[in-house]
Amino acid sequence: DRFGTGSKPLAGRRILVTSGPTHEPIDPVRYIANRSSGRQGHAIAAALAGLGADVTLVSGPVTLADPAGLRTVHVETARQMLEAVRAALPCDAAIFVAAVADWHAAEEAGSKIKKRDSGEVPVIAFAENPDILRTIGHSPERPPLVVGFAAETDDLLANAARKLERKGADAILANDVSAAGGVMGGRENTVHLVTRDGVEEWPTMSKEKVAERLARWVAAKIGEGAP
Ligand code: CTP
Ligand code: CA
Repeated sequence: DRFGTGSKPLAGRRILVTSGPTHEPIDPVRYIANRSSGRQGHAIAAALAGLGADVTLVSGPVTLADPAGLRTVHVETARQMLEAVRAALPCDAAIFVAAVADWHAAEEAGSKIKKRDSGEVPVIAFAENPDILRTIGHSPERPPLVVGFAAETDDLLANAARKLERKGADAILANDVSAAGGVMGGRENTVHLVTRDGVEEWPTMSKEKVAERLARWVAAKIGEGAP
């Protein structure tokens, strides 16, 4: 380990991490969401804090406790997550791990939608959510280091490379969510680090190990003594 045990190569660096799902309300009792426990994002935030970073974790609804040693901001929707992310800028690096819902209900019903005796079912129109990573990746306030995830079931590396360009990221962790055992909610993860220099294949490991490896990669990029 080039930093040695107990060293804090990210001391003084401000880092933003998004984690968890977002919940997009349909009516007061229903929402749509992605499958996400927040385990990977929270582990990344904790690993960065462990290397001394000043971390703001913007989290959607999860059952996990707020990690120690960092600031957690709680949000529900993608639109709220974007606002909280903007409020956390400027920073030195931003890691977008949240499984943000791509759509919200175009009109949120103010009262509970009731079943009909006729059996007629509701039709919900959707509107697209802001792409938080893409917005920040192309904004004038873009942090020097921007990292995203790509959750894919097919064409993993090609899709990850496309997201790297489209979203203006420096790295995408290509996440094979069809991997055996179930990534979503599970304790292990299979990711590959895709940058403009190529693809680093990472073995399947615990989400904590993925987090530590990513945190060390971030430290090598922007930490003490980085080029
Ligand atoms: N992301 C985001 N805001 C969104 C959607 C995605 O910030 N509204 C971020 C995620 O946190 C992740 C990356 O973008 O870091 C890729 O998310 P993903 O869902 O894989 O990509 P999408 O662009 O939404 O494409 P699709 O779901 O169609 O594959
Ligand atoms: Ca998506």
